[in-house]
Amino acid sequence: MPFPAVSCRLLQLRFSAELTQRFLQQCSGWPVQALEYKSMLRFRVAKILDELCGGQLRPLLLTTLLGREQGALLIAADGLNQVEQADDMVRLATAIAHLIGRSNFDSMSGQYYARFVVKNVDSSDSYLRKPDKPLELHNDGTYVEQATDYVMMMKIDEQNMQGGDSLLLHLDDWPQLETFFHHPLARRSMRWASPPSKNAPQNVYHPIFSTDECGRPVMSYIDQFVQPRDFSEGNWLADLSDALENSPAKFALPVPVGSLLLINNHFWLHGRDRFTPHPDLRRELMRQRGYFTPLCGQ
Ligand SMILES: [Fe+2]
Repeated sequence: MPFPAVSCRLLQLRFSAELTQRFLQQCSGWPVQALEYKSMLRFRVAKILDELCGGQLRPLLLTTLLGREQGALLIAADGLNQVEQADDMVRLATAIAHLIGRSNFDSMSGQYYARFVVKNVDSSDSYLRKPDKPLELHNDGTYVEQATDYVMMMKIDEQNMQGGDSLLLHLDDWPQLETFFHHPLARRSMRWASPPSKNAPQNVYHPIFSTDECGRPVMSYIDQFVQPRDFSEGNWLADLSDALENSPAKFALPVPVGSLLLINNHFWLHGRDRFTPHPDLRRELMRQRGYFTPLCGQ
């Protein structure tokens, strides 16, 4: 099934069933546990995938992700779309992530990736799994010290789900970017703290806006974890949140089971739309976040 045409900024990539099978066969000697225990093997599966693509995948991924015009991919593999293939999905996602960089330790799972389930009823302490609330536009990695250059989200399973699409906004499409970027509070260091489930008890301090190596605006922002110091910070942040959520450039992207969304975390904001409650609702996601290692640095 073809992907919907949603944004010219999003490169859509699909591996054929034959390539997918060859990749999985060549990786079959390594269970996911081996990838967890031996970091080097994550790069080995990456090399296998790149070689199957004639050495063209790595430069394509990096060029797309680092290019300000795009910076986002939606990737699928034919024949990889059943929850029973979850380990194979982790292998493929690991290979892709380790062609562009390295995935960080995820303190929520204690691994370099995290799998988590969204159900109809939720008792967690953030909006990550809440069905009836949208997860508002944000960047990842705001409350950790690690560089978070990319965010990868893969859908492993989905049952009885209506709504809940990914929401995306490219910073350069946001009409109010200049207004907020040039505000004095844009570069004030703010405090970031996360709830207990994130297993990241320390406070982190950084401003919301900074610039990339070319002087273009980049963001590190999430509404739930920023801790405004006073009245003026709190109200400026509330205005910023409203401006992002009401942006006409925000768009929804349905991510099919087995597909993964890979974005540059510095100039893309992401979120998740609300979805309709259902007693047997189930969605399972996998995420990896990490830092880039561009080809010129090799
Ligand atoms: Fe996120």
